[in-house]
This record gives sequence, C-alpha cells and structure tokens, in this order.
Amino acid sequence: MNATAHRYRIALLPGDGIGPEVMAAGRRVMDDLARRRGIAFEYAEYAIGGAALDAHGVPLRPADLDLMRSSDAVLLAALGGPKWDTGPANLRPEAGLLALRKGLGAFANLRPARIFPDLVSASKLKPEIAARVDLIVFRELTGGLYFGEPRGRGEGEREKGRKGEREKGKTAIGRTAYNTMIYSEEEIRRIAKMAFEAARGRRKRVTSVDKANVLEVSQLWREVVTEVARDYPDVELLHLYVDNAAMQLVRDPGQFDVLLTENLFGDILSDLCAELVGSIGLLPSACLGASGPGLFEPVHGSAPDIAGKGLANPLAMFLTIALMFRHGLKRPDLADEVERGVAGALKSGLRTRDLGGAAGTAEVTERVIQKISEEA
Ligand code: NAD
Ligand code: IPM
Ligand code: MN
Repeated sequence: MNATAHRYRIALLPGDGIGPEVMAAGRRVMDDLARRRGIAFEYAEYAIGGAALDAHGVPLRPADLDLMRSSDAVLLAALGGPKWDTGPANLRPEAGLLALRKGLGAFANLRPARIFPDLVSASKLKPEIAARVDLIVFRELTGGLYFGEPRGRGEGEREKGRKGEREKGKTAIGRTAYNTMIYSEEEIRRIAKMAFEAARGRRKRVTSVDKANVLEVSQLWREVVTEVARDYPDVELLHLYVDNAAMQLVRDPGQFDVLLTENLFGDILSDLCAELVGSIGLLPSACLGASGPGLFEPVHGSAPDIAGKGLANPLAMFLTIALMFRHGLKRPDLADEVERGVAGALKSGLRTRDLGGAAGTAEVTERVIQKISEEA
C-alpha cells in the first residue's frame, strides 16, 4: 500500500462493552475523511471476544483470522466483560485477543503517551511535570508470561510432595497454578531493534525495564538489549528495574523517551501512563510484526461500568486510527489530520467524563469531525 492508493481494506473488530460504541465513532471519522479525501475504506467486520463466544462458541474463529490476513489493517475496539469471566482461560474473550496478536505475528506493541497542552490540568501530576510527558512504550507482545509453556492449574509437584501431610490433616495446602515467563534471544532482539530505531527519530534515549535482580529471563533480556545497543552508539541506553520504573514514571516522566519492556510489565506500566496524560480514554496503540497487516487497538478495555451509556471517550480510538493510517496504511497525511482534529476538539474545551467534563461519545465525535475539516 502506498500514498497513491485510494482503496483500503480494513478488518473491524468491535468486540464487547464500549467496543462497539467507540468503533461506531471511529467509523464516523473514517467515513468523513474518506468522503472529503476521495478514498474508500472497504470494511469487513468480524466477531471477537465475548461477542464471538456468544455467536460461535469460540473467542476468535481461525477462519476469520485467516481472512483478516489479507486486509491492509486490523482495527480492534475492546473486548471482555463479567458475562464471560468464569470460563477456562482458552474460552475467555481475552484468549481471542492473544490468538489474534500471535496469529498476526504482531510482536511489537507501540503505546505512545504524550500530553496534549490543553490537558496538562487533567493530569494527576503537577503542571510543570505533566507538561513534559512525551514517551512511547515498546511492549513485547507475543512472548513472556502470556504465552510461556508450561502453564496450567491443578496439582503441581510441590503439592504432591506434601499430600501425605495434608491427608493426615497436618497442613492445609491449597490449589496450585503456574505460568512460565520465557523469552528467546531472538524475541528480545527483534523488539529491541525496533525500539532503538524509533529512538533515533526521537530524543535518542532507550530505557529498558526488567527485573534482572531476580529473574533469569530478565538477565537474558538485559544482556541482549545491551548487545543490540552496540549497533546504536548514538542512542543512550539505560536499564531500570520495573519497580523503580513505576516510581520514576510518576516522579519524573520527562526522563523517558522510549521505554522498552516485556509483555506483562508493559501492560501494567502503560495503564500507569494513562494517568500521566489524563485518562486511559486517550491512549492508542499499534501492534506490528515483520510482515502482514498490523493490528491497531486502544489501550483501554471494554469498560463494563460505562458500557451502553454513550459516555465512552472515543479519543483513544481516533488516535488509534491515526496510528493505523501512519504505520499500517502508510498515510501519515491522514494520521496528521486526525491528530489535529483531536487536538482541536480538546482545545475547544470539550471533555468526556473521564477527563472531568460532561460530554458524551457522540458529541465529542461530531466535534472532532468538525475540527478535522476546519484544520484541513
Ligand atoms: P478498562 O480499561 O475496561 O476500564 C478501566 C477503567 O477505565 C474503568 O473505570 C472504565 O470506565 C475506564 N475507561 C476505560 N476506557 C474508557 C474510555 N474509552 N472512556 C472513558 N472511560 C474509560 O479495564 P478493566 O475494567 O480492568 O477491564 C474490563 C474488561 O476489559 C476486562 O474484561 C478486561 O479483560 C478487558 N480489557 C480488554 C482490553 C482490550 O480489548 N484491548 C484491554 C484492557 C482490558
Ligand atoms: C491490554 C489488555 C490485554 C493485555 C488483555 C485484555 C489480554 O490489558 O491490551 O492492555 O493484557 O494485553
Ligand atoms: Mn492492559
């Protein structure tokens, strides 16, 4: 796909909870752009998560995943919810998302967190500290604890060893469960390279976050990242333990440019970043692999507490669509338009409830569309 193309095939996965609401808002923005810019988006919609469990009995149909591979980009809103929370791990909505990421080979999750000047007061930080937030998390997305084998529940070796004691009623030993955090050298190297490449176009600083003081897997992580850094002498590399990184993000987020980390640490730290910029309702993400379509998804979930009320902040979705234009369709021009529209809507003072305002999803959507056309 290139800048002269005028037709784009986009797979849409609305999912659950506020997912369909923010997806509908996203479509309004895309359709308006398409009309004004003389381009066409060809949508194909697929069920994922709870919606797919209800319709097909599985959280993602393998045949749907295959069809998505021939699209130019895959756009996901959000999935999950209390209705499906009791199933076994492989029959929960979230398993559909993991299968999608793995199936598309989308190993690099880019999660930018940059403060909008008009939202400095919405951040939980002091204004002078909030004003400096401009970082991007490079979260490894297809390895680590989320995918490591063996995993499971039940009677583990430890429990068996003490069974005799339990039967005699001496010790009350409970159930066991386990996951494996495993990374290969190659899995670490490929995401590290992407992070260093990105740093070159930014402030040239990579902070790698691990738990190398305790975990063998983090020791390998640190070794490989240090090796990769040798090919990027112009980029500064720092290592932080994840507990300290969480503290530093709140204390002085301006010190972070590219934050490189493994799957679970990246998941947790990116929600923390939400509060640095004002709300999780603002954070977009891009999941990229070596080839094939990218997957684009807001950082937030299905927000069951506000679902169906028209209150969801659609800005994370719009900014995700901007990332899709930039990284997936190679249309930075369209990405810039959407981002300017979002900035314009915030400048005009409109705020959803998560940002302390009273506007609903529809009102914000129409304002963004208006601002996109005004700024063009
Ligand atoms: P969540 O992100 O859905 O919600 C956390 C809090 O943020 C809630 O108070 C919610 O109302 C608020 N919030 C989230 N998005 C918002 C938006 N766009 N506008 C305004 N407020 C917003 O996280 P959770 O409650 O921990 O998880 C709910 C479900 O979503 C779970 O099933 C979880 O597994 C799933 N989840 C899915 C994704 C995804 O689809 N990518 C991501 C995270 C969580
Ligand atoms: C996210 C979500 C997912 C994750 C869940 C829903 C599987 O929290 O995208 O941040 O942990 O990756
Ligand atoms: Mn998360």
